[in-house]
This record gives sequence, C-alpha cells and structure tokens, in this order.
Amino acid sequence: MSRFDLGTCARPNILRVKPYVDARSRYKVAEPMVFLDANENPFGPAIPRHALAEICPCHQPGALGLTRYPDPLQLELRQRLCDFRNDDTGTRKPLTPEHVYLGVGANEVIDVLIRCFAVPGNDRIVMCPPTYAIYSLSAQVNDVTVVEVPLGPAPEFKLDTSAVNTALSVEPNVKMVCLVSPNNPTGTVIAAEDVAQILNHPTWNGVVVLDEAYVDYSSKTTSLAHWVVEYPNLVVIQTLSKAFGLAGVRFGAAFASPSISRLLNTLSVNYNLPGPTSIIANYALTSGLEIMRANRAQMEVQRSRILRELPRIPGIGRLRGGTETNFLLYEVLDWEGRASNETARALCEVMAETQDVVIRFRGTDHGCIGCVRITVGTEDETTRLLGAVTTALAAVRDNEATCE
Ligand SMILES: Cc1ncc(COP(=O)(O)O)c(C=O)c1O
Repeated sequence: MSRFDLGTCARPNILRVKPYVDARSRYKVAEPMVFLDANENPFGPAIPRHALAEICPCHQPGALGLTRYPDPLQLELRQRLCDFRNDDTGTRKPLTPEHVYLGVGANEVIDVLIRCFAVPGNDRIVMCPPTYAIYSLSAQVNDVTVVEVPLGPAPEFKLDTSAVNTALSVEPNVKMVCLVSPNNPTGTVIAAEDVAQILNHPTWNGVVVLDEAYVDYSSKTTSLAHWVVEYPNLVVIQTLSKAFGLAGVRFGAAFASPSISRLLNTLSVNYNLPGPTSIIANYALTSGLEIMRANRAQMEVQRSRILRELPRIPGIGRLRGGTETNFLLYEVLDWEGRASNETARALCEVMAETQDVVIRFRGTDHGCIGCVRITVGTEDETTRLLGAVTTALAAVRDNEATCE
C-alpha cells in the first residue's frame, strides 16, 4: 500500500483555499427562475441573428449557452463521462461525478495538477521522455523542476518501472509522476502492472498522473480510470480532442479520488468550462459515441495504408514506436541510409513549403534520432501525404548527395 497522504502532499496554501460558492448552483437555470445574481447581460449575445442561426440553426434562446455563465458544477456532464467509462457488466465499483474534475482541455488539467501539488521553486515532477512536452512546459511556467527517467529504447519505448521507483525513493520533493499511455510521440502503451507498481510504491508520498488522451484509439489497453476508486494517489487524464474529434471545444477531464477532485475544483477558476463546450461534450458522450467509433474505424484503414505504403518510399526508415494511436513515428534516412535529423528536418520543411503538407519533426526527442511524427488523416489527406513524402524526400536526398 502506498504512503499517499493528500494532507501533506498537496500545497498547504491550496489545502487552505475555501471553495468559491456562487448564488445559483443550487437552482436549475430554467423557467420560472429569474437570475439577477451574476451581472450577465440577458439582452443576448452581440452576434448578428443570421450568424447565430448559422452556428445553431434551431436557435432556441440559450441553446448554445452563450449568454449565461455556465453551470459551475456540471454534474450531468460529469455523470455522462462516468457512464462512458463505467463497466457495462457492473462488476466493479462505479465512477461517480465526485471522481471528476473538468478542465479546458487536458492541457489545463495538467497545469491545474502541477499548481495543486508542486510548490514553485521547491518541488519536482518525474517525466519519462520521449513524451508529451506540455508537462515540462507547464512545470517550467510554475517553476517546478523535472526529473527525467527515460523510457527504454525504440521501438518498444518500455517504461523503466524500477528506475522510476528508485527515483521516487531517492530524489527529494517529487510530488508527481507523469505517465502517458498510449504515449505521444511513441504510440506505445504502458502495461497496467507497471502503473500498479508505481502506485504501490511503499514510501513515496505523491500522485501518479496517467494521461490517457489517446486511449480510445488503442487495441492493447483500455482506460484505467476506474482504478481511481481504489487508488487515492492516481489521477487519470482524459480529453475529447482525439478520438472524439473535438480539439476545438477544449474539453479535458481528470478522474481522481473525491478528495483530489474536490481540491482541483476548488483551485480552478469558477465557470472554467465554457457553456458551448459543455453542450457539445454532452452530445459527444451520448449520441456521439457511435460516430466516434465509426471515425476511429476510418482512421484505422488509413493508418494501415500508411504502414503499408510509407516504408516503400526510398529514404523512409523503420517505424520507431507502436500503432496504438492516430499517429506514427518514422525514421528518415539520409542519402547514405543513416537515420538523420538533418534529413528529417529538411523533409518537414520541404513538405510544408513545396507540398503544403505539414508533419512534425521529433528528432531531438530522447531516443528519436531522425524521426518524424505523422498524424493519420482522411483518405485524401493520406494520398496527399504519400505523394508529398515521395517528392520532397527525393529532392532532399538528391540535394544531400550533390552537396557531398
Ligand atoms: C498526451 C496528450 N495529452 C494531452 C493533450 C492535450 O489535450 P487537450 O487538447 O485536451 O488539451 C495532447 C495533445 O496533443 C496529448 O498528446
């Protein structure tokens, strides 16, 4: 059993914050109530009627949640998220709205977690590169130091569980371990037993953050969100930006013990989740589930096509990660056949500038020399991708050969 104790792990000033209480959360925003408590403008949004009708053809007053401050509690939406993750068979303890914190995208959730637990200028977080860069960015912004425990070599990029646990035993002031599964940019998953080993660390008093942004794409793993019912030191991050195709609405969430999620809700600025976001997220998590699954199946077809066709292009090297997400990590080879950051960087530039196709250079990430990360697009986009890589890579390598 872990030594986790929220009362000594979270920042003392955060533990002392009294939650903001608004005047209306106890009442439903509907007829016959008249709300004159929050200085809103009931004369309506400053948007032309025709534009409103375009955005929302049914145009019921309030249908988009524009005029009123959103419900700060969002209990219905939190329940929807729990319903989505709860086990259909009813064999385990269910997640309930008390286990949920909602944020403006997973990125906001990450920032709130760091602010909640890590004292600026003193505390530290453990990260396992190569991984999602926002953790270290957010740590830097909050004056929190990162302790790196790298993943094993490509293509497995296995989590070094014993090195993580050793770091937690010997490194002072570590408040958080940030794990991403499936991971970005490697597309690999962390075994549930490995997560459990860290959660069960016998002496460390800190929080394990498991970022599951891509979990609904994975065929090898399913969400561990329900573990928060048993593990008081686990936080599982979710987003609608990936499999649900809703990056623009900025909806993220954390599943955690009721005490942690209460603390995160206290910390977050009231009304953080925009009204339109909440309305759209409600649809996605109910009538949108079938669409999400159908879109995922289309993505899988294009991913298989890339896996089949991309390696045939001269200059494309090995697949360097897993296939559990909607992106792939590939090596780019110079004209002599070596994985090369120069060639990979040049490929990205030439593709964007001459072919109008943008992919991401990842060659400076730990263990990713010469790598590019390619998001799986639609059928047409994949056709464009394959053509662009062929043309641009031939040009880049010809140029290298003639410069030698
Ligand atoms: C691992 C991971 N977590 C979180 C995010 C950000 O999610 P959101 O769009 O909800 O902020 C990303 C986006 O690329 C990601 O790769």
